[in-house]
Amino acid sequence: MNNFEFKNPTKIIFGKDTIDKLANEIPDKAKILLLYGGGSIKQNGIYDQVKKGLTNFDIVEFGGIPANPEYAILMEALKVIKDEKVTFILAVGGGSVIDGAKFLSPAAIYEGETPWDILSKNIRTEKGMPFGTVLTLPATGSEMNSGAVITRKETKEKLSMGGPGLFPQFSILDPQVITSIPKRQLANGLTDAFTHVLEQYMTYPDGAILQDRFAESILQTIIEVAPKVLKDPTDYKAAANFMWSCTMALNGMIQKGVPTDWAVHAMGHELTALFGIDHARTLAIVAPSHYKFNFEAKKEKLAQYGERVWNLTEGNTDAKAHAAIEKTVVFFHELGIDTKLSDYTKEYEGTAEKIAQRFTDRGWLGLGEHQTLSPDKVEEILKMSY
Ligand code: NZQ
Ligand code: ZN
Repeated sequence: MNNFEFKNPTKIIFGKDTIDKLANEIPDKAKILLLYGGGSIKQNGIYDQVKKGLTNFDIVEFGGIPANPEYAILMEALKVIKDEKVTFILAVGGGSVIDGAKFLSPAAIYEGETPWDILSKNIRTEKGMPFGTVLTLPATGSEMNSGAVITRKETKEKLSMGGPGLFPQFSILDPQVITSIPKRQLANGLTDAFTHVLEQYMTYPDGAILQDRFAESILQTIIEVAPKVLKDPTDYKAAANFMWSCTMALNGMIQKGVPTDWAVHAMGHELTALFGIDHARTLAIVAPSHYKFNFEAKKEKLAQYGERVWNLTEGNTDAKAHAAIEKTVVFFHELGIDTKLSDYTKEYEGTAEKIAQRFTDRGWLGLGEHQTLSPDKVEEILKMSY
């Protein structure tokens, strides 16, 4: 096991009707920016619950953060923060709204030329404006981690940011919120969380027995609850397990002390930037080809995953590893997620070359757990994903 340090300061308030506890978590004299998305919270009652919880606070609202939070819109929100002298940001939404808040937090106090620097120059956030979240969509884990991904339509870019100052102060996780989520987004959430675990697990055996079993248990839980959540989002037991699995998949815990990959996300983000495909779906497009292309390097872990998560018993390591990839593809299909780029766009020719060139230009010359996945390999994997 590798040496590691672990600190996760986000307070989680989990369970039924926990939005009522909001007022306890925000400083008394705070001027709050209530940040939300396209309006789902106004239809499903979450907006009313939040407003009720904040009756005695001074609030200014900013709605309209789109899926894949857009830089230009966030810059409008930044203006509101400055004009209204906001001191606390409350994100009410899924990963996009929460990531939007994570961008605004350091942007609000940034003194350089343009806040875009934070993304383009990869400036780590040590400190930002404090923020909390009310999660409405289990998927990304953003509610308990210190990363964010921001999109800029103008340049078709989707860039990441992070740093210890980007953990939410608190996140309220009421599993009842999933009752209003459309099936497509539920499937996305299940797929995104599942792939987050794979990114931190599907590398090579490293003797981290506990981390492996943490990862496998999250995968097993997602597989178990997925059909229940999709069939009946009012099934509270399934919803609670789904929500907590998504958070645990990317709150830092399972990746401590082990090698991690994250190349599937690096490639997937480009497919969202170029084609607007939902984040989770880009992962389902890339992951199977990535595991096939890197089969020799990953087959021990693939076989272990096959045995422990999919209960595969037949054949040698190679056979189990191949079967495990197939099981994963079938699982995505059962969720209603297509796994080829051509299922989403007819304009896929040239995509692999374009993305490989972007990686070269950014100096991303060696991705993956061995830092050996060069742009030419990225190109091959993406061609296999057409
Ligand atoms: O905009 P609203 O009206 O809120 O509707 C949203 C949106 O249309 C809707 N929705 C959310 N909660 C709902 C609901 N509809 C009905 N009832 C509810 N309770 O769902 C749609 C998608 O929301 P979004 O926030 O975009 O989804 P998700 O949580 O999957 O977030 C995706 C974004 O997070 C980034 C992705 O790249 C993408 O930009 N990621 C962030 C990560 C992180 N910060 O750690 C890691 C991930 O790998 C990912 O990259
Ligand atoms: Zn993801």
